[in-house]
Amino acid sequence: MSKSKYQTMGQQFGRRSWAEPWKIKMVEPIRMISKEDRQKAAAEAGYNTFLMRSEDVYIDLLTDSGTGAMSDRQWSGIMMGDEAYAGSRNFYHLENAIQTYYGYKFIIPTHQGRGAEHLISQAIIKKGDYIPGNMYFTTTRLHQELAGGTFVDVIIDEAHNPTAQHPFKGNVDLDKLQALVDKVGAKNIPYVSLAGTVNMAGGQPVSMANAKELREFCNKLGIRVYLDATRMYENCFFIQEREAGYQDKTIAEILLEFCSYTDGAWMSAKKDNLVNIGGWLAVNQADVAEKARNMVVVYEGLHTYGGMAGRDMEALAIGIAEGVDDDHIASRVRQVRYLGKLLLDWDIPIMEPIGGHAIFLDAKRFYDHLSQDLFPAQTLAAELYIDSGVRAMERGVVSAGRNPETGKHRYPALELTRLTIPRRVYTQAHMDVVAESIKNIFDTRKQTKGLKMVYEPEYLRFFQAKFEQIK
Ligand code: F0G
Repeated sequence: MSKSKYQTMGQQFGRRSWAEPWKIKMVEPIRMISKEDRQKAAAEAGYNTFLMRSEDVYIDLLTDSGTGAMSDRQWSGIMMGDEAYAGSRNFYHLENAIQTYYGYKFIIPTHQGRGAEHLISQAIIKKGDYIPGNMYFTTTRLHQELAGGTFVDVIIDEAHNPTAQHPFKGNVDLDKLQALVDKVGAKNIPYVSLAGTVNMAGGQPVSMANAKELREFCNKLGIRVYLDATRMYENCFFIQEREAGYQDKTIAEILLEFCSYTDGAWMSAKKDNLVNIGGWLAVNQADVAEKARNMVVVYEGLHTYGGMAGRDMEALAIGIAEGVDDDHIASRVRQVRYLGKLLLDWDIPIMEPIGGHAIFLDAKRFYDHLSQDLFPAQTLAAELYIDSGVRAMERGVVSAGRNPETGKHRYPALELTRLTIPRRVYTQAHMDVVAESIKNIFDTRKQTKGLKMVYEPEYLRFFQAKFEQIK
């Protein structure tokens, strides 16, 4: 858990460049199909990047979820899979890794993050409950709603403003939380849903001070705090970089302290934990663990595999330890920043400060002539694909869905197109190509007229909705 003893070349020679702490051993060819074919592919996919074939994509920035490259060590772990139905040795490695690095007591494996969200939501939310959180995430909120709860956003106001320069835009506003307690009563709030970093706010971090204050606040009222730990390693990097007193602590030390202010966590291991599939739930209360274990066998698999193969759990156990490495996280966040800075140099509007896993183009400012009813963020993702085969993701009015009570679109303050950087996959040259393509569509933006939704599914509509171009 110590800080790296190795210097980068740049540090040795007094420059400030950095480089990835790995070299490439195996490559996967990619290619850009012709402009004509890209136009055809976009139209066939209903201008929804989720409906495209990955073979038609050149640089895939749809998500950082399950798209990372595993290390030679993780691949060796794959060969060590113990595919026993019950009590696989790989489960115990996984349990040990989560207990060591995150510090929680009881571990329940799941097939991915939303499997864990389902378990925790069903285990502790009762009908009519309120679940405050630092901005919603699509699957998290849906599971809270399906369990009978109502999500209430209690993130600080700065998080909804794409240009506000706050070092910890993911923080919980304790006044908003207090107001909710006053309105609905602490007994109707089973837990605070805390995410670090906050995906929908642009990958913005939560400070250690805020986590600590939140814990003290909740202790007084008997409210629990559960953490969405999906990108906590990146959150810890920002604490190390920005919060007084943490500069000399390792990411692993910061992580343990942060988690100690929470009662448990759910995890999409497909992000920070460096695997292509997997998830887990970890809690400190035996009664919650018992409820979750009762359900995991119904929905996921036995409580010692939860939908994962033994080999997946081994790769995950190794990925947990690799992902928390200081040099790994620093290079990961710096690559995201490299892309962001290229765009800022060209005055292209992005969410600031630059977050941990992605660059979020501010589609409201990018297409300031398009109203939200014309789906500017969806439009931007489609235009980017047509220009260069780069695949991005909408995080705006389509992702926000409809209000379950009124049936109307929810109009989020943030209308963003996410360029999500997979871990250990692309080089700086790929980032240059992406930036140049965005510059091109920015320069021709006034010709763009937006999209019309022609098919809308009931749940998580952004995944499968279809659109037509407005001519
Ligand atoms: N929580 C956060 C913060 C996430 O970003 C995700 C997934 C989940 C939970 C659900 O996990 O996909 O393993 O079931 N985010 C992906 C993304 C889909 O692209 O941001 P999952």
